[in-house]
Amino acid sequence: MKDFIWNIPKAELHIHIEGSLEPGMIFSLAERNKINLKYSNVDQLKKAYQFNNLQEFLDLYYQGAAVLLEEEDFYDLTTAYLKKIKEQNVLHTEIFFDPQTHTERGVSFNTVFNGIYKALKDGQNNLGISSEIIMCFLRHLDEKSAFEVLLEAEPYKDKILGVGLDSSELGHPPSKFKNVFKEARKQGYLAFAHAGEEGPAEYVWDAIDNLKISRIDHGNNSLNDKTLTKKIARENLALTVCPLSNQKLKVVPDLKNHPLPQMLEADMIITLNSDDPAYFGGYIAENYLAMHESVNLSKADIINIARNSIDSSFADKARKNEMLTELTSFLK
Ligand code: HPA
Ligand code: ZN
Repeated sequence: MKDFIWNIPKAELHIHIEGSLEPGMIFSLAERNKINLKYSNVDQLKKAYQFNNLQEFLDLYYQGAAVLLEEEDFYDLTTAYLKKIKEQNVLHTEIFFDPQTHTERGVSFNTVFNGIYKALKDGQNNLGISSEIIMCFLRHLDEKSAFEVLLEAEPYKDKILGVGLDSSELGHPPSKFKNVFKEARKQGYLAFAHAGEEGPAEYVWDAIDNLKISRIDHGNNSLNDKTLTKKIARENLALTVCPLSNQKLKVVPDLKNHPLPQMLEADMIITLNSDDPAYFGGYIAENYLAMHESVNLSKADIINIARNSIDSSFADKARKNEMLTELTSFLK
């Protein structure tokens, strides 16, 4: 089953590019950029990767991202991620990046965007991986700051699929960003949001009703509300589920209790993804494998989830058909 999981053609729809920054690269970039780290070696840093909740993780994630300064750093980060997912037969990826994580430190939007974008273009040409970019607003900051991001993104608008919402969920409901999402949608961006990871089902309603999202990132707590669960299934709103993230952030007590079986039972459209692979112990294939091992995810379920990942992507129609054909011939 391991080979099957690694080789089945699939798409990744929930990955924070800053969350693919491996400990080894944190050290090499710190050296290149002459930055002092709090940790003396990779092992010591890895030992700190124990989290009791989302915030404890975010504190380390923002610290790690501080070694990214130059366009080349963002290029190298993105290229390393693409090489990794090539080994897991990811055909298409939709990556999040957090502009404010960098602009707040004095790194310009242009530097960040150009590094990521050039790496994705090269990844398309050299590795055959198609991609899209979603820029996320940090929800612990205010809406005014999100509006500033939208303004900075203006020259790159045609190269960005949508806006997303990430960072500390509790206390920062989606409606806090209602106006900036409205303006973003008016400008042609699609809308995405993390909702129901640590926050309640009400936040998922809020993201659907007020931000008009095209997909739900995580969405686990939707299951606490039957009406909402039914609505999500009926409206074919896909969920980007991230099991190893849920385990590491204690969103679920144990992978054996992961809500994936209930989600499938409720006919929700499920995709599996890595979230922050360098911090949570695995890339996309490890997430599929973890679910196979802990909740007996069957071969048929794996095929459906891989197909969902392609169907729920925003690759254009021709590319989707190409990927679905590749999936069909893999299954023959
Ligand atoms: N949740 C919310 N914000 C994030 C995450 C996450 O898992 N990863 C990076 N930013
Ligand atoms: Zn996420």
